[in-house]
Amino acid sequence: MRSIELIQPKHIIFGAGYAQDWANIVLAGKKQRVLLLSTHPLWAVLEKSIGNAREKGLELLCLDYSWRAEPDTEIFENLHRQSKDFGPQAIVAIGGGSVLDVGKLLAALSSGTQKPSDVFGKNLLDSRDNLLICVPTTAGTGSEVSPNAILFDLRDGEKKGIISPWLIPDTALIDPEMTFSLPPKLTAETGMDALCHCIEAYTNKYAHPAVDLYALKGIEYVYKNLKTAVKEGNNIEARSAMALASMYGGLCLGPVNTSAVHALSYGLAGKYHFSHGLANAVLLPAVMLFNMEADLEKNARIALAMGLPDKGDLRATARSGIKAIQELSRDCGIPQSLSSLGVKREDLPQLADMAMNVKRLLNNNPRELEWKDALSIYQSIL
Ligand SMILES: [Fe+2]
Repeated sequence: MRSIELIQPKHIIFGAGYAQDWANIVLAGKKQRVLLLSTHPLWAVLEKSIGNAREKGLELLCLDYSWRAEPDTEIFENLHRQSKDFGPQAIVAIGGGSVLDVGKLLAALSSGTQKPSDVFGKNLLDSRDNLLICVPTTAGTGSEVSPNAILFDLRDGEKKGIISPWLIPDTALIDPEMTFSLPPKLTAETGMDALCHCIEAYTNKYAHPAVDLYALKGIEYVYKNLKTAVKEGNNIEARSAMALASMYGGLCLGPVNTSAVHALSYGLAGKYHFSHGLANAVLLPAVMLFNMEADLEKNARIALAMGLPDKGDLRATARSGIKAIQELSRDCGIPQSLSSLGVKREDLPQLADMAMNVKRLLNNNPRELEWKDALSIYQSIL
């Protein structure tokens, strides 16, 4: 068995109603100057805990991240300047994946002289000396437990990853009630993203039994709960299962990470501004079909983890899992074709070009994927 390194948050709190506890965690960490990053619809929910934090003597800078788009270098620089001027001892990020990613980067770059352009890639951050608390309000990107952050680099229009142990929060405060108000569309898209994290880690070229456990449990929880979470937003059991699935997916991201689904989604997000989860959801069944032959046994085990019957034939069982995932995606309201989302046939070669640039993820894919393969995957779902 090959070696593996697991680096995770040292403190994970999971439970309904715990989101408002962020100020107590800051106080327990003996920090005083706090940067709170969140978005417009959440400020009202946070009003009481912000009042409590001030009463307890915390000095707060509340920064609003209300851009609908995924974060880019310009948005980040603006927030970064304000953060550096304030000099926070603790950063609390409460929101979806973009808010958490930006909060993580602000924390790691708030002291020192590094800029985002210095740290695109793996293990390039110098350090982080402040306390970082992440509270997810989607389920999920898994950013609350992962070492990853994503920014659009406006210099070349490419979406880039920053991966570093310094981006792993000290505390992940996972409160499923915070996802109650997430609309059905976002619940579906972010939930499918969590499923991609688990499937891409489990079938990854660098998959490992230490991570497979998380991946299989995450696959089971998404398959059995996403539809309910989409249709009944206040269903605490479904929301809790999805919040855990997001965490499991996030725990897969550091040690193993994703592969071709995420690589092929970069162009759809960059050129067509698909949300991250939507781009992955549309691609997932087609990429699974392409990858299936690389390891029929593992692909059959995905179907079994979802609770589907063993068909007595690995290929047939694996195919039933892929078909069921496509049905789940459709039942959750996710469009199944690129053309219905505005993608044009003549743009497919450029999308394949963009996917080929995401080498760090394509290298993880269980089956070698060349430009022509990327093109035929896009064509198969046009
Ligand atoms: Fe993702």
